Amino acid sequence: MSMRDDYQNLSDLLQDVVSATETFHGALPERPVAARKRTGGPSTDLPGHGIGGKAALREFLDQFGGDLSGSVGSRYFGFVTGGATPASIAGDWLAGAVDQNVASPGDSVAVAITVQALNWLKQLFNLPQTSYDGAFTTGATGANFACLLAAREWAGEQAGYDIARKGLAGGPPIAIYSACPHASFVKVARFSGLGEDSIHAIARIGDTEEMDPNALEAALAAAPSDQQKIVCASAGTVTTTAFDDLVSIGSICRRYGAWLHVDGAFGLFARTVPELAGRTSGIEMADSITVDGHKWLNVPYDSGFYFTRRVDLIERAAGGLPAYLDVESDGLPHYINRVLEGSQRFRALPVWMTLCAYGADGVRETVRANVGQAARLAAFLRDSPHFELLSPTTLNVVCFRGLPPDGVENADAWNKLLLAELNAGGTAFMTPGAYGGKGGIRAAFSNWQTRDEDLDQTIVALQTAHEAATRKGSLAA
Ligand SMILES: Cc1ncc(COP(=O)(O)O)c(C=O)c1O
Repeated sequence: MSMRDDYQNLSDLLQDVVSATETFHGALPERPVAARKRTGGPSTDLPGHGIGGKAALREFLDQFGGDLSGSVGSRYFGFVTGGATPASIAGDWLAGAVDQNVASPGDSVAVAITVQALNWLKQLFNLPQTSYDGAFTTGATGANFACLLAAREWAGEQAGYDIARKGLAGGPPIAIYSACPHASFVKVARFSGLGEDSIHAIARIGDTEEMDPNALEAALAAAPSDQQKIVCASAGTVTTTAFDDLVSIGSICRRYGAWLHVDGAFGLFARTVPELAGRTSGIEMADSITVDGHKWLNVPYDSGFYFTRRVDLIERAAGGLPAYLDVESDGLPHYINRVLEGSQRFRALPVWMTLCAYGADGVRETVRANVGQAARLAAFLRDSPHFELLSPTTLNVVCFRGLPPDGVENADAWNKLLLAELNAGGTAFMTPGAYGGKGGIRAAFSNWQTRDEDLDQTIVALQTAHEAATRKGSLAA
């Protein structure tokens, strides 16, 4: 079957995709939340002659449809995994179908829509419109990377040294200060050439994950005077959803001439509801901010974005247009100059669609519902004789563990068994967590579809898994 033949029947093919999507989404409430494990992937030879789009779709669905994860559904609580709103699914499909490249402006409205989507996001997060600019990225890791490159350029600029041109060797010493950086930030420290060891650990307050501003101040005061300083603060850590005190940290950064980066991949959404917004007070002092779209905004992968006060620095690190890309811009950005990638998917469209369809109220409703659900699960676990909370629940993440039966010595290992029982049950899916030296389980709420009934089912599933793990644990003990 040729591409041309397929294209003539495009509508027929897309109707099949619509039906398959309806079937998949319709089955989400009943199907196991996580796929059964496949040991091997597809291993057939490359087809010489293709079978056409409709047959290929059937082949995919028959062979693999049952092994997709239900991560878009309402009882998937692993990692921090958002779902996909209806309008964002439509936007995502369209983004693929119209296949615009937002690397450069000039031939499409896609770049202007990207600018508008970023402006809407600044309004959603109540960030000063004119002070920040940014770009869409593949996710929060991509956003952290872009922000760290901007910070690195800034460090060079402070010392009158052009890092983008000359490289790090010969440049000023650069140190990063952070109390609880996300693993992706450690990764981008490596990618940026600054290295993992350039991250200096700042003490946390008591047994929390929150940076101690006094410890930060002491570290900056003791640092060599020629050292350029980058502070990476958290607006929502993955285990305890800790927010660093940005008011204090921001003013310390200003006093000591440090760049302030804030990783708010999912925590920045606290800012969308007045009762939680205070946790990010002071963020206006940030030089750069990372946020994810594919988490709490509930748009499909991949979607992240960043904001910075110094987009010119990223453009220095990532910019440089060869003649064939130097098209007329009409004052619009060349996004190729703001991220690692050259050609870029029209990532703004699913975001634009979901914000246009449901507005700021839609986002607030999801955030409020998820925060309430996390609190309700935490209350059940606190009151149950079979579970304990490992940390206080203050936003959308619950970190806990099951109490093993008498005779089980290794509670961490037994909790792995408990988690395996829970996930094998198929009602709910959670992932491992650890806090205070204790291994356990983490449940993150970030899906617009999650309802109180889902929580009822999840609580029953947890009790059942606890009973099963208790039986197996007792037999083994
Ligand atoms: C605080 C934080 N930063 C960064 C990331 C990395 O995000 P992504 O997987 O979108 O690259 C995450 C993901 O969980 C996160 O929670």
